[in-house]
Amino acid sequence: MQNNKEDIARAGKILRGGGLVAIPTETVYGLAANALDGLAVAKIFKAKGRPQDNPLIVHISHIDQWDALVSDIPERARALAQAYWPGPLTIILPKSGIIHDEVSAGLDTVAVRFPSMRTTRKIIDAAGVPLAAPSANLSGSPSPTCARHTMDDMRGRIDAVLDGGECNFGVESTVVTLATPVPRLLRPGAVTPEELREVLGELEIDDAVMGQLKEGVKAASPGMKYKHYSPKAEITIVKGTLDQFVRYISGTGERENTFALCFDGEEEKIPLRCVTYGRQDDPLTQSHRLFTALRELDEQGAVKVFARCPSTDGVGMAVYNRLLRAAGFSVTDA
Ligand code: TXA
Ligand code: MG
Repeated sequence: MQNNKEDIARAGKILRGGGLVAIPTETVYGLAANALDGLAVAKIFKAKGRPQDNPLIVHISHIDQWDALVSDIPERARALAQAYWPGPLTIILPKSGIIHDEVSAGLDTVAVRFPSMRTTRKIIDAAGVPLAAPSANLSGSPSPTCARHTMDDMRGRIDAVLDGGECNFGVESTVVTLATPVPRLLRPGAVTPEELREVLGELEIDDAVMGQLKEGVKAASPGMKYKHYSPKAEITIVKGTLDQFVRYISGTGERENTFALCFDGEEEKIPLRCVTYGRQDDPLTQSHRLFTALRELDEQGAVKVFARCPSTDGVGMAVYNRLLRAAGFSVTDA
């Protein structure tokens, strides 16, 4: 389906009727269903092959829709919404009685996001209900950032894909929970920890954000414990300068189907086939490119990949978090 009035109305009708439509947002494509219909939501898990214990984000198109979804909206939540909604930020609060267990995966909280992309909001309006939507990839694959990637994963599994072009940010929203005594960042995104602290004052960063949860530790955000964003290729993140990177890969002796995932303009210096993911000094270009680059590595038949390490400042934290999971936490110092 195309990004026009008629198709948006059709998408709304399918969603209202309990169907599944993949929709564009400013972060990544989402696989949407009526958030208030438990049967429709259950279909999302089936289409994605998503583990049942991983809860979904509920998307709204007007701030007033938030009240009915949560038990109470504390002052600090209002302030956060005021500052960064609509936008790439998801806020978790204790849920209200209308949230089915399918959405919250049995937790007593619910994640809500008010997206900034106008097309997304028009689709929610057309559906006339809040939409539960995880990223529209098969569970474990990189999130889709364009309609073609969405189709590659979801063909034959859902009712429709609405093509809204390339996603602006390219990584999923920042997830913060306010259901804890101190606000806690569960997933980094385009709204940075510094920006959250400006409004909240205090913010804890969950252990799962920058590292791997230890065996037996319960994940605050169930999604963070799964292997994620993974291309078929085996990725190793190599820390250090470009020169150190080049020296390191020269010493590994691997060539056949070995690739470098590097920054724009570095290809000439690297004696491997290269896929680039944005400018070294600009994390927004990296977030925009990363998931597409991971899919390109698969398309080109990469078996082994050495990746340049991004800075973890600002939006870079989100880029590093996703790359770390794509690499299965394999990091080495050059
Ligand atoms: O940008 C985004 O957030 C995209 C677009 C489509 O809006 N959606 C997205 O959804 O990334 P998903 O399902 O792929 O990721 C949601 C993350 C998961 O890690 C999940 O475990 C966590 O949010 N989450 C959802 N509800 C939660 C809750 N009640 N408590 C803790 N974590 C929750
Ligand atoms: Mg996802």
